[in-house]
Amino acid sequence: MRHLVVHPAAAPLLGSVPVPSDKSVGHRALLFSAICHGKSRIVGFSRGEDNLATLQALRALGVRIDEVSQAELVVEGVGIFGLCAPTAPLDCGNSGTTMRLMAGLLAAQPFTSTLIGDASLSSRPMMRVAAPLRARGAAISGAPHRSKADEITAPLTIGPLPEGEYLREIEYDSPVASAQVKSALLLSGLYAHGVTTVNEPSVSRDHTERMMRALGVPLTTFGSIVTLDPAGWNGQMAAFDIALPGDISASAFLSVAAAIVPGSRVTVRSVGVNPTRTGLLEIARDMGVGLSIEAREDAGGEPTADLVTWATALRAAAIGGETVTRAIDEVPIVCALAARASGVTKISGAGELRVKESDRIAAMIKVLRAFGVKCEEHGDGLSIEGGDGPLKAAVIDSQGDHRIAMTAAVMALVGDGPTRIVNAECIATSFPKFVGTLRALGAKIDVE
Ligand code: S3P
Repeated sequence: MRHLVVHPAAAPLLGSVPVPSDKSVGHRALLFSAICHGKSRIVGFSRGEDNLATLQALRALGVRIDEVSQAELVVEGVGIFGLCAPTAPLDCGNSGTTMRLMAGLLAAQPFTSTLIGDASLSSRPMMRVAAPLRARGAAISGAPHRSKADEITAPLTIGPLPEGEYLREIEYDSPVASAQVKSALLLSGLYAHGVTTVNEPSVSRDHTERMMRALGVPLTTFGSIVTLDPAGWNGQMAAFDIALPGDISASAFLSVAAAIVPGSRVTVRSVGVNPTRTGLLEIARDMGVGLSIEAREDAGGEPTADLVTWATALRAAAIGGETVTRAIDEVPIVCALAARASGVTKISGAGELRVKESDRIAAMIKVLRAFGVKCEEHGDGLSIEGGDGPLKAAVIDSQGDHRIAMTAAVMALVGDGPTRIVNAECIATSFPKFVGTLRALGAKIDVE
């Protein structure tokens, strides 16, 4: 799939569909099973490219991972001290989570590793993990950033930690709410002599903390402060079985499609509804989206539910603060909702979007304008003037960003003619069956 042609929806979107498993939980299930003792089973593994990058990196570190079927893995854990020196650079592809979490895991190893990525990942800031890891004694170097003097980017060279040396305690006040930074520090904390404390401006996704606690790691949380105190811990984690929840960040595209195509009603089954991820649901309700959360359950220590969404009249909202942290990957698709809502939606406090797979504020401004939507760019967000007339059919370049490509595809469903989305292959990083799923709901999409 290189390009998509999305036709305006001729009928409501209707049906009940699954989504790929949660990418964030998938990365962590792989990483933790690799350093447990014994065979872990991961059920519902998404074959998105980002998760596959973590899988391949762990294999390169000597971890045996059997793909029992398309969606089931058996990981033979080697314990926290059992990883082997890789013989080649570890390719993290497009995945910031792979690179930043790996940096934390590799910081305490007695060997050197190099982490590389694609062009987008190689331009993303890595000092946010390198600085605190260095502060506790890790050796990490990177390439100079193209415009910021005190920033580094991939390739990252990490370690070795000389024999007899240990990572030290750290009390880190993170300037950004970032689960990747927090998780890198907590992973390195498994090896440290001393306490790891991370405080963030607002609580980012807590999948690492949940998994560590379930594995018996001595970790406590108090508001936005997480503390891992390894004193008295034996450093052993037992293998586990996990059924991964569906990815709320993937379901967001389907829910918003249902919300904006008149007459639609779509159920997305078994979606992870961890409260640190559900900002979108609150935003959607504020904007008048018809939404019901049903069949609540638990999967792998994470709450899940079926999300039922239907089309209604939408209204603008002011979106900011900690809700943005809990919806950080959903901001592009929130822009699609805003484009259909009456009034001006203002999104603020979203400066982190500038350093995602693309500068998502600038990228969404381009997409919205191409569809004829009035909008204004701000340093930390954007304002969007919505309406309910058809959007102008457009040609959109994904800019290599999966979430921009999928947002444009959803907006195209309410276009006044076919919209062409070029460079859509990036969708495979998180939602390889996106086109098939939208088609199953009734959308007409050609793939070129
Ligand atoms: C992720 C954390 C978030 C998010 C990313 C996945 C994770 O990034 O945007 O898609 O799995 O830890 P930040 O930690 O940079 O906010």
